[in-house]
Amino acid sequence: MTQLLGRIRRLGLPGAILLAGVALSACGKNTVQPQNVLDPKAPIARDLDRLWDPVFAIAVVVFVIVEVLVVMVAIRFRRRGDDDSPKQIHGNTAMEFGWTAAPALILAVVGFFTVINIGKLDAYPKAGPDVMRVNVTGHQWWWEFDYPETGVVTANELHIPVGKTIDVRLASADVIHSFWPPKLAGKLDAVPGRLNHMQIKTDAVDAGQTFWGQCAEYCGLSHANMRLKVVVHTPASYAAWEENQTASASYALPADTEAGNGAALFRSKGCGGCHTINGYTAGKVGPNLTHFMSREVFAGAIFPNDVESLRAWLRDPPKMKPMMPNNGLGMPNLNLAETEISDLIAFLQTLK
Ligand code: CUA
Repeated sequence: MTQLLGRIRRLGLPGAILLAGVALSACGKNTVQPQNVLDPKAPIARDLDRLWDPVFAIAVVVFVIVEVLVVMVAIRFRRRGDDDSPKQIHGNTAMEFGWTAAPALILAVVGFFTVINIGKLDAYPKAGPDVMRVNVTGHQWWWEFDYPETGVVTANELHIPVGKTIDVRLASADVIHSFWPPKLAGKLDAVPGRLNHMQIKTDAVDAGQTFWGQCAEYCGLSHANMRLKVVVHTPASYAAWEENQTASASYALPADTEAGNGAALFRSKGCGGCHTINGYTAGKVGPNLTHFMSREVFAGAIFPNDVESLRAWLRDPPKMKPMMPNNGLGMPNLNLAETEISDLIAFLQTLK
């Protein structure tokens, strides 16, 4: 017995350090913990956090009471000998009433404030001069952002003007996904055959900042590689972004250059069968690449949009990101030659 207690005591300090480490791991800075729900940066995320805090406090109190009772009972009524057993009783009306009523009361209080908060979230405007609509579609395994007011279609990076309420119309092209930019707003499922709504609103201080998010519903092989970025612009910088996205381009590139060869390869290798480039190809399976170079990331926002990553990607896409091209999910390996890859990259680089 004393040996056992000594062992437990020796475990005390490392155990406490481990526990503190686990608890404090939620307190990182923006760069270390880009998806920390406990660090809300926008009004809707703060509304959610204000509900989360007291509910967590209640949960901690309940947890401590239950665990203390469990340990107390285990010690007090432990078996002391071979023919030892505690006094056997059957039923206790007062206790049974208590442990039914207390949780019901606690849940009623939590439920009351939850319903109040749902009403508050529902009060964010869904239409009007300060609202901008974006159709968000989850695909295996990337996000499509379509701005119906301007016709802009982009992927994986949601660009929004600061201060406006963004009315997100959420849909899915295949299976259930979940749209989740934790520092800005809540989490909502994208369900095939349904249109779900959520709002994103930002503060003046969010302008110029980028926020990370990801798919939060298991959606197959590359669920973990279905991330997203929300770029919050000042009004002027948003106008510039929008102007660039709505500009049309010419694809009449000189034939004997890398970019010209790449443009031809884009069609002959079948890229255009999956990817739309406005005015050039009209594929509907993969991301719209019309202004591809204006994006900082690609392939579900998991790779930086630079020559090195593009080259590795075009050499063997399913090696870079698990996909099932034989089932029509994700980009296949086109077995491109190195010169073809260089030509395609040169063409992509014209898509500003
Ligand atoms: Cu899409 Cu998980």
